[in-house]
Amino acid sequence: RTILHAELSGEDVIVVSNREPYIHQRRGERIEVQRPASGLVTALEPIMRACSGVWIAHGSGSADREVVDKHDRIAVPPEKTAYQLRRVWLSAEEEAGYYYGLANEGLWPLCHIAHVRPTFRSGDWAHYVAVNRKFAGAVIAEAKTKNPIVLVQDYHFALLPRMIRDELPDATVITFWHIPWPNPESFAICPWAEEIVAGLLGSSILGFHTQFHCNNFVDTVDRLLEARVDREAFTVSLAGKLTAVRRYPISIDWPPAAEMVGKPIEQCRAEIRQLNSLPAAHAIGVGVDRLDYTKGIMERFRAVERLLEMKPEWIGRFSFVQIAAPTRAGIDEYQNHEAQVRALATRINQRFSRTGPPPIVLKVEHHEPQQVYEYYRAAEFCFVSSLHDGMNLVAKEFVAARDDERGVLILSQFTGAARELPEALIVNPYDADQCAAALHLALTMEPSEQRDRMRLMRGLVAEFNVYRWAGRMLLDAAVMRRRGRLLGKSA
Ligand code: F6P
Repeated sequence: RTILHAELSGEDVIVVSNREPYIHQRRGERIEVQRPASGLVTALEPIMRACSGVWIAHGSGSADREVVDKHDRIAVPPEKTAYQLRRVWLSAEEEAGYYYGLANEGLWPLCHIAHVRPTFRSGDWAHYVAVNRKFAGAVIAEAKTKNPIVLVQDYHFALLPRMIRDELPDATVITFWHIPWPNPESFAICPWAEEIVAGLLGSSILGFHTQFHCNNFVDTVDRLLEARVDREAFTVSLAGKLTAVRRYPISIDWPPAAEMVGKPIEQCRAEIRQLNSLPAAHAIGVGVDRLDYTKGIMERFRAVERLLEMKPEWIGRFSFVQIAAPTRAGIDEYQNHEAQVRALATRINQRFSRTGPPPIVLKVEHHEPQQVYEYYRAAEFCFVSSLHDGMNLVAKEFVAARDDERGVLILSQFTGAARELPEALIVNPYDADQCAAALHLALTMEPSEQRDRMRLMRGLVAEFNVYRWAGRMLLDAAVMRRRGRLLGKSA
């Protein structure tokens, strides 16, 4: 945190993301403030609290434009102003093409490879280009100097780095791609693969969660563009502009805020069981996700079913609580997925709950971060079964929530987090028998083993927290800026 303050004091810092960190909605006379379910927001919010600056985001969740002032700007967070949130408003057509279409029906399945076919439409692409241009305009309007530090977030803005560079050649553009990057063969099916890669190469630094994704990106550049690739330095040079491709594993705030871990564990255990009409001594596991097909929620439920088949002694003594935040409901694939998840939960519950509580408690609704932490603290284990995930911050949040050093993390091998948390029970979510065995192991693990594993994981998250993630990117950028000033070049 101190390094961040030092590196950023006096700097002109702008963050750009699609998702806004706060949603302001009018409910009668009241203005309700919500925090969206988003790993990106979880990671960036503490950074923005640590440095004042401007966060530019799509005003999607803020149904009422009058809630923010006439300049589309609002000071946040609500309890203590730390930075400015500037909304960019999009028309329904722009949102349909850029967000639902190109970003979430095209790039999301393209990069995740969760066996959902990407859809590419030229109309969506046109909106994507136009919206990236609109955000570039907002960045230029918000920049107070000729050389701001701009932190561009995610696959919604692949073209933005080059657009910013064209207007502000001295800017330091740090782009972070929060989702996986696939191999060149997979990426090349995108009709605009070259434009996307060239757009990203407007960045000074381009970050991914894992070295594997950095390698895939550099291989894709090599395949698609006439660029100079230096595999030792891990840099790419295109049209005289050098981009460093680096691994920065994202993380969470540490130590967790007092309001997240303030309620005693025993109280969380009792309240969560009561809230869900479960007996006081009932064992529970928890899953927390957006209701997204990449998260492996179907596979998770099948593992619970398999557990009850293989170890029937858990029938009536164990329930799995799935918190599923509604997401991207405008997309058919997400509607179908929700229907399938609900149907599977119902089928499993009909099969196993004749004499007692349902084995699956499915809660399709938004939960505030504090409520989510109460579930983490109340559970015997947390199960993250993503079919593919850049990092997965739920895994790290669960670890942060367990200051009692109890609880077991079951973690898909296809998450970035699995590379950092080998003390979790690492599973292949496609293997129901293996997952069921891990569930049983988690439910029967000795407290001393839980403690040993949890201690190591907590040590890792404490050391490599979100300040380290941002700090390393910003330090690398600061070195580039100094070098650039010495040599009279832009960073
Ligand atoms: O972490 C990947 C990501 O797409 C973020 O960019 C995003 O904030 C989050 O998942 C949630 O998705 P959405 O913003 O579409 O609800």
